[in-house]
Amino acid sequence: MERFEVTGGAPLSGEIKISGAKNEALKVIPFAVLVKGAFVIKNIPDIADIRTQLEIFKDLGGKYEFSGNILHLDGANVNKSNLGGGLATKLRASIVYAGVLLSRFKSVTIPFPGGCAIGRRPIDTHMQAFLDLGAKQIKENDNYILSFKNFKSKSISLLEQSVTATENVLMFLSGFDDEFVVKNCAIEPEVDDLVRIINNAGAKIKKNGRTFTIRGNCELRLSEEEIIPDRIEAFSYLVAFIVTGGNGTITNFPSRHMKHPLQVLKKCKANFQISQNKLEVFENDFLDPFRIKTGPYPDFPTDMQSPMSLIAAKAQGKSQIKETMFENRLGYITQLKKMGLQARIKNRQTVEIVGGNKLKGAEIDSLDLRSGITLILAAMMASGKSTINNAQIIDRGYENIVGKLTKIGALIKRND
Ligand code: EPU
Repeated sequence: MERFEVTGGAPLSGEIKISGAKNEALKVIPFAVLVKGAFVIKNIPDIADIRTQLEIFKDLGGKYEFSGNILHLDGANVNKSNLGGGLATKLRASIVYAGVLLSRFKSVTIPFPGGCAIGRRPIDTHMQAFLDLGAKQIKENDNYILSFKNFKSKSISLLEQSVTATENVLMFLSGFDDEFVVKNCAIEPEVDDLVRIINNAGAKIKKNGRTFTIRGNCELRLSEEEIIPDRIEAFSYLVAFIVTGGNGTITNFPSRHMKHPLQVLKKCKANFQISQNKLEVFENDFLDPFRIKTGPYPDFPTDMQSPMSLIAAKAQGKSQIKETMFENRLGYITQLKKMGLQARIKNRQTVEIVGGNKLKGAEIDSLDLRSGITLILAAMMASGKSTINNAQIIDRGYENIVGKLTKIGALIKRND
């Protein structure tokens, strides 16, 4: 098990640059299965989940080269549509191979995908959408086998506004020379930008509210694309500066995708200014408490609720966080309580936090990606030393975490 050792109290200052969006990059890789020929994608974060998604691509017969955040992909030789085996069970985004493989080979075998343990994370929305479109499904041992001959319907509605289900279905349909409608879609910025790339490849996807109309294309081609910055990483580092009382600059900052969470921080009296893609943050010792409830975009993102617990820890008064997307995403509160956080979980999904007391260093366990980064930030604002176990979970989604935080003055090192 890898660990981070963090000594709290160091003042942060300097500049930090946001990497590409994990939750877009993870979907562009499977899209290469449908694209004819090689292409290049820039701004891909070098994180563990991307490496796993690339290994799956290679296992299917795809070719890639990845260095300096530039990814060359070529899906011409993909010759397998079976995702069985260990890799796909390591991350949630492996499910997105289902749509592209089904579109290209008309059959696919997939296991139940893995990913962070933040709740049940069912795949019924994905499966129902493929069934509604005309696919047949068999469950064999731990695998789902989907096959497809003809469309039963060309207009469907998703059960949930699921990010990966929306992407799965849009990519599936983008490979057919025909017209479709998909309702009740997710409209997260990463979905929007993936749609931009699919359209650049030759499809015509239009969004009207949560309804997408799609004109697919069986000759999809791309040359060079660049993905958007990671809004969740951006938010994590902004909170790092705020809770440690730091002053600094965050570049490549995607403020246009972060309206709601930035409004909440402003209301708490966090002190920052945005100009174009740069955010400058200034020390402010007095923060106001807040109440937030997570929800699909444009509501408050579930991936940003755990860092908000630290704003609550610093604010004068009682704050409330309500998680509505996943059943098990407040586990980090138990870890923060070991550091002295005054918090009460009211009903598995809601936590009340009374701020104003300084956190103390402790040995804590990172439970999932977003709670992991929250614990690192908590250790940075606490007095004394902390050990954060299961460091490798944080490597799944944060590029060069030790290097980036050290550059802005944090005292953090990794121990095996
Ligand atoms: N849902 C269903 N059935 C499904 C799929 C989803 O009921 O078949 C429900 C979920 O239980 C949840 C809601 O729909 O209540 C939304 O889940 P969604 O499918 O949108 O989540 P996801 O696609 O599995 C992506 C991100 C998550 C992020 C969520 C919400 C990727 C790889 N993951 O997950 O990111 O929290 O959307 O925005 O894109 C992370 O980066 O740490 C992370 C967990």
